[in-house]
Order: sequence, then C-alpha cells, then structure tokens
Amino acid sequence: MSESNQPKIFALVLAAGVGSRMAANFPKQYMIIEGKTMLEHSVNALLKEPRIVRLVVVLSPTDMIGMGLTFEDPRVEVARIGGNTRAMSVKNGLAYLAGEENVWVLVHDAARPCVSSTDIKSLIDTCFEKQQGGLLASPLSDTLKIASSEQTVDKTIPRDHMWAAQTPQFFPLDKLYDALSHPSEQITDESSAMESVGEHPLLIKGSPFNIKVTRPEDLDFARTIIHFRNAQ
Ligand code: CTP
Ligand code: MG
Repeated sequence: MSESNQPKIFALVLAAGVGSRMAANFPKQYMIIEGKTMLEHSVNALLKEPRIVRLVVVLSPTDMIGMGLTFEDPRVEVARIGGNTRAMSVKNGLAYLAGEENVWVLVHDAARPCVSSTDIKSLIDTCFEKQQGGLLASPLSDTLKIASSEQTVDKTIPRDHMWAAQTPQFFPLDKLYDALSHPSEQITDESSAMESVGEHPLLIKGSPFNIKVTRPEDLDFARTIIHFRNAQ
C-alpha cells in the first residue's frame, strides 16, 4: 500500500469493565503503576504511534473516575459509552468513531498497560503491507492441559500452532462493525468477530510482556515490566 492511499488510523481503548477478578473496590484500570493509572499507561503507549490520529477511551456510563483524568494530547477523547460486554463496548466505540471512509481501528484493552510501541508499529506495518487485519499474539510455550471438574488432568493438548491473543487488534472499522453485528457468546475479541464472518486475521508476534492485568498477582508483574522499561 503506498503512502498516499493509506487509511486513517483511529484507536479505541476499552475501559468500561468492572474488574471483578481483580476484586479491588474500584475498577482495575484505575490502579496505579509507577505513578500513573493503568488506563493512562495504555493510552500513552498508543499515543507514541504518530499514525493514530484519533483515540477514544471507552468508559462505563456510570464511571465517576475516568472523566476526571486529563489527557493533554488533542487526539484523545473520553466517552461514557461502554456496554455490558466487552464486545458491546467495542461496538459502541466503533459507532462513535464512524462517519469517515477508509478508516482502520486499533482496539486495545486498558488492562494491557505494558504494550510496546515497537509491537504496535509492527502490527500496523504488517497489516498494511499485507492489506489484511490482524492482532498481536504470542506463541504458547507451556504444555496445555484440559482440566476435569476435580482439577485433575483430563487431557494434554498439543501446543503446536497455539497462540495467546493480545491487543491491540487492527481491522478496517466498517468491516469490524459489521462483524460485531451478529452477537454471539463466542465473540471474545475482535479477531473472533472477524473469524465469524470468514476472515483469517494475521497473527503478529508480540512481546509476552504485553500481559493482561486480570488478577491481583498480575499487578506486580506489570509494575516490574513498566519499572524496568522506564529505567532503560
Ligand atoms: N471492558 C469493557 N467493557 C466491558 C467489559 C470489559 O470495556 N463491558 C474492557 C475492560 O475495561 C478491560 C478489557 O475490556 O480493559 C478486557 O476485559 P477484562 O480484562 O475482562 O476486564 P474486566 O471485564 O473489567 O474484568 P473482569 O472480567 O475480571 O470483571
Ligand atoms: Mg471481563
């Protein structure tokens, strides 16, 4: 794809969840890591990519914290348009961004504050070069077990060809919106929505440090990664 016909790039940062598995008394995206909220780290990581021209932070309609954060960068807007599920938050965010032609959107979890700008660049470059949507992901190295209800091993499954999906995920805005119009329990990320309409998104190898902060023990890991990166 030549420079002149490259699509515009918008971004959605999803921060409308409640963080039930973190079990804090406020949503996990507002937990502090190295002096900033997890949400701010995630937004700032995306803002390092100059090709992103607009970024919308999706908050819950009942959010009382995020509206009080100040994002100096004029590309950032904050909107209380989240839905009951992650997929609904994405769909509402896409509807909010809609209206222009030839737009691709990076969808990123606020709960992944350790994403690197190098990985974001490689996702965009590869998808544009191949003219195909894709996602950051990491090949699995652990042996995988399917557990029984008694927490014993039922079965070992070969890990060859197994990747753990991360975010950002990067797709043409209108195609992603259409794919999300067929609601299903199986749609847990943007890739699965695109797969459900027959697409085969590109797996772009990202750093295994792009963890999703889900449970309390993940927070120390995220703090260590960000501390180490800031010190470099
Ligand atoms: N998210 C969202 N809207 C929802 C649910 C989730 O925007 N209705 C966002 C979360 O804020 C998070 C990302 O999607 O940044 C990934 O979701 P997850 O890690 O599951 O966060 P929560 O849903 O908040 O956590 P939990 O599932 O433990 O309640
Ligand atoms: Mg969740």
